[in-house]
Order: sequence, then C-alpha cells, then structure tokens
Amino acid sequence: MFTDIHSHILHGIDDGPENFEQSVLLLNEASRNGVKRIIATPHFHASRHGLDERLALAADRYSKLQNYILENNIPVSLLQGFEVRYFNGISRIDSLNKLCINGSKVLLLELDASNITEAVADEILDMSYSGYKVVLAHIERYTKLSGFKQIKRLIADGEVIAQCNADSFLSGCFGRAAQRLLKENMVSIIASDMHSLEHRPPNLKQAYEAIENKFGPKVKSRLIYKAENLFDMCL
Ligand SMILES: [Fe+2]
Repeated sequence: MFTDIHSHILHGIDDGPENFEQSVLLLNEASRNGVKRIIATPHFHASRHGLDERLALAADRYSKLQNYILENNIPVSLLQGFEVRYFNGISRIDSLNKLCINGSKVLLLELDASNITEAVADEILDMSYSGYKVVLAHIERYTKLSGFKQIKRLIADGEVIAQCNADSFLSGCFGRAAQRLLKENMVSIIASDMHSLEHRPPNLKQAYEAIENKFGPKVKSRLIYKAENLFDMCL
C-alpha cells in the first residue's frame, strides 16, 4: 500500500487532467499501481490565482472526485491540499493555513527556481518556527542552483521535509540529483507528482522497485513509512 502526497489529479484546475473522465482514469491507474492514499495538490501561484476563487474551485473538484470514490467503492482515501509556489512574504500571510493540506499545518511548497536565496531559506525557517510542517516539492530540480546550499541546510537540520518525484528514479532528467540526495539521506518522501497517464503517470510502485534494487529494502520501507506518516499528520 502506497501513499502519494503530491498529485495533480483534480480536473480543470491546472495542468493536470482537463476533464473529469481523465481525472478518474488517473485515480484508477493510481489504485492499480498500489496507491491507497492520495493528496490532491493543484498548483497555487499567488501572482496568478485569487485565493478565494482557487479554494472554491479546488473544493468543487475535490468533492466531485471524492463522490466518485465513495459511489464506486474505490479503495483510495483522498485529501485536499495545494502545491504552493514560494513568494516573498508567504510566511506572513494570514491565509497560509487555508493552503495547507486538509486543514492541517502541513504545506507542500514549491521553490521558485529564480529566487532561491538565504532570505528565502530564512523565511521557510520562519514558517517552520510558526508550526508549519513544510514539505519541499521535487527538491532534485534545484540542486544546481546557487542558493541550494541554504535549502539543503534546512533539510539536514530537519526543519523541512524533502520530496523527490518518482520519475526521477526511473527516467527523469533529474535522476542523478535525486539519487545523490537519497544517498545523502536528504530525501524523506517520494511522490508521483502525477499530471496525466502520459505525463508523469502514477508510478510509485515502479520507483520503489528501482529504489529497492539500488539502495536496498530498508530505504524503500523508510520512504513508504514517511509518506504514510505525513498523510496521518494531515488527518
Ligand atoms: Fe506538482
């Protein structure tokens, strides 16, 4: 049983499925892939999206998929969150809790590749000190950027949780970076970041198999446990 904490499974809200039928195809494929718990994390960009409008749209899409799950007895638990793109001042907005997963204090944060500095790391640390459990999405994408050292320090100090994409352990172009981070014990969670059956499909099972082959069963078990544990923190 796998837990997928980063997915673009809701339809008509971002660059994930365009319609409800595609959303259902993704859900069923994830279920076949062994995923029993999914967190829906549509993009939130403060520069593009109005908060109230975004919350309402996500709630609508979530309830449609959740109704389908219940009506068809699909063995998947679905929670609602966002993948929030970092912006200056994010730690000081009143509504940050509304962007967390399922009313918890867990926030999936996407770094802004054009703005990774010591000040950004400081602000993320402020969020941690304010009680937020920040999960950094697909961290392997940023390792070559100059400000990554500061981010890496936050991960090493346990102030944030680092997530890598499953496809980086299969065929993705950030494979070397992901493997290095995992070897350095910097990665806590693997997630699919699924968008469609063609573009980043549900592939946790295959990624865990690749990780087990390369790093051994204990590393695989730890990653599976950490994802489950994070999901439990959001209940
Ligand atoms: Fe994503």
